[in-house]
Amino acid sequence: MPNENSYEVALQKSNAIREGLTKTPEKFTMLTGDRPTGRLHLGHYFGTLKGRVELQNMGAKTNVLIADYQVITDRDTTEHIQDNVYNMVMDYLACGIDPDKTMIYAHSAVPAANQLMLPFLSLVSEAELARNPTVKAEMEASGHELTGLLLTYPVHQACDILFCKGNVVPVGRDQLPHIELTRTIARRFNNRYGKVFPEVDALLSETPLLPGLDGRKMSKSYGNAINISMTAEETAKRIKKSQTDSERMITFDPENRPGVSGLLSTAAICTGRSEVEIAEEIGMGGSGQLKKYVTEVVNEYFAPIRERRQRYENDLDYVKDVLHEGNRRANEIAEQTLAEVQDAMGMVY
Ligand code: TRP
Repeated sequence: MPNENSYEVALQKSNAIREGLTKTPEKFTMLTGDRPTGRLHLGHYFGTLKGRVELQNMGAKTNVLIADYQVITDRDTTEHIQDNVYNMVMDYLACGIDPDKTMIYAHSAVPAANQLMLPFLSLVSEAELARNPTVKAEMEASGHELTGLLLTYPVHQACDILFCKGNVVPVGRDQLPHIELTRTIARRFNNRYGKVFPEVDALLSETPLLPGLDGRKMSKSYGNAINISMTAEETAKRIKKSQTDSERMITFDPENRPGVSGLLSTAAICTGRSEVEIAEEIGMGGSGQLKKYVTEVVNEYFAPIRERRQRYENDLDYVKDVLHEGNRRANEIAEQTLAEVQDAMGMVY
């Protein structure tokens, strides 16, 4: 029997969910989120935001979390957190997340959800926490020591998912260990105290991971990302500065020509065309012409999104209202779930 926690099984389940979503969307509760460490970029947009909007519009119950407490898992500061959180709400709204359909809330504003951390911590062993590959990778990438929070935040992430009884979590492959742990926690809780929580599965993105403009992993720290919030001019500048190579003929070859190929992938995802087709069209036009094309198609695709975003930038009161209303609803749900948890545990006085 294949291992339940293998990538293959996760992919099969993900495909089954996709199928189920088209038939009975109302049976699905989605929860996913982002760390507010900076602006969202094209990788976020095509990798997850677009999919969230589709789930929302199909009629699934959709919840989006701004994971502010996860910011301090591998860094020692909350600098700019308020600005990052408000801007994240703006990015969401601009991309089509509709606050009447989707609950948008922040970790720190929902005490009852955070309180689930206590019973949940009792359901996992130190060894299980210590072997989480994503935690290890984050520790190495950040150079941060393994604090208690870095070790246990996947349990906190289980609180995120389970407080609203989420059963679908759209995530990238790196988050699968956290989904596994969430499933384990839900099962152990249900076995020990009686059924409160659902089975949880990941919904894996169908679009391949978009590389940065230089072909490396898209990351704010590499300066190779285009943010949703950038202006058309800022976008043009960033693309102009991106590293290509000295060969004139444009070809798609991610191994040997990461810069040219990163640009081609960016143009491909914005146009729905293939990288090879675009490369052939540009041919001897060289990287100058390629960059011009990429700039045009990115700016065209994001023009309406950026126009909407501008309106939210000029109406911070509305942005705050959206978040406050999401926080209020999240608290209602969290208090209800916490009451069920305490009831199941007999902690009723
Ligand atoms: N860990 C996720 C990330 O780094 C963010 C996140 C927090 C999340 N809580 C979540 C994702 C719950 C899915 C479900 O991107």
